Amino acid sequence: MLLCRGGGIGRRAGLRIQWAFARGGSSPLRGTDGFNLNNYLEDNFKNSYMFGRIMKIRWKDWIVTARPFKSEEEYASYFKYFSLHSVRKYFAASPYGVTATQLKDDYRLAVNSREVVRWAIEDKEGQVIGFTNIFNIREADRSAWISYMIWEKKYWGKGLGYALILSLNLYSFSLLNIFSLWAHVIDKNIASWKSLEKAGYHRWGEHPPMYFVDNKWLGGYYYVLYNPSYTDGIFKKDIPDSLKDSLKKAEDALKEADRIVEFL
Ligand SMILES: CC(C)(COP(=O)(O)OP(=O)(O)OC[C@H]1O[C@@H](n2cnc3c(N)ncnc32)[C@H](O)[C@@H]1OP(=O)(O)O)[C@@H](O)C(=O)NCCC(=O)NCCS
Repeated sequence: MLLCRGGGIGRRAGLRIQWAFARGGSSPLRGTDGFNLNNYLEDNFKNSYMFGRIMKIRWKDWIVTARPFKSEEEYASYFKYFSLHSVRKYFAASPYGVTATQLKDDYRLAVNSREVVRWAIEDKEGQVIGFTNIFNIREADRSAWISYMIWEKKYWGKGLGYALILSLNLYSFSLLNIFSLWAHVIDKNIASWKSLEKAGYHRWGEHPPMYFVDNKWLGGYYYVLYNPSYTDGIFKKDIPDSLKDSLKKAEDALKEADRIVEFL
């Protein structure tokens, strides 16, 4: 039942096991399968909950590496990038900048948490161009949230956001055994929500303007991605019509993720 038990099993094998459920294995939601995310993380990731495994992401003609931050000092050293207004203004967590001290605190919280996996995104020259994470990982309903930030602007407009989302989806579904992934996006962040939708995320809600940025009130959208391998268990009856398109996209996007992401 457990996926990729023993950290050495490759990502492709992990995904195939997931698909096997989808093709008629017993639904992991039915009955007591005894799955325990904490034990799973303990067995597979030891003291690296925050870091997860390194991911090589091959996208178009370039490659980026998602790797752990090496220390709180390294994480905090990027505070200028984390704080760039142009980068952060549509970042739903908060449009305001952060200090190095706040980042150190944030790092300590994350590194001690079993609910966060966080990566630095490095280009092939070794420059850190952004970060991404899976957070609020909850065993109770096997859900988690994702976020991503590319602060090196020369990498905007090339679909890297989409490639990162694919890697987070694959990681969550094939290694963390997550059922549903959630995201929140400011409505003006078109590049972000288009990337989510392309990867199969379904817009299930929106909220009225509540962020005041650059003299304007901004609203936002909520998105969810269901793990296509678990739809039997999640939807006891038929899959709702409103989700069919996004689930099909999710399946295709996961296949693409399987092609472009390599877990080291
Ligand atoms: C958001 C972010 C990840 C987007 O990544 P990206 O890969 O550069 O996105 P792209 O510019 O390639 O755009 C993705 C899609 O949206 C479309 N798009 C972008 N801006 C658009 C606009 N103003 N109107 C219509 N479509 C637009 C692109 O054409 C592309 O569509 P395609 O996939 O069909 O080609 C990146 O800009 C970033 O990290 N920004 C700062 C932090 C942030 O906002 N993080 C997200 C928080 S939710």
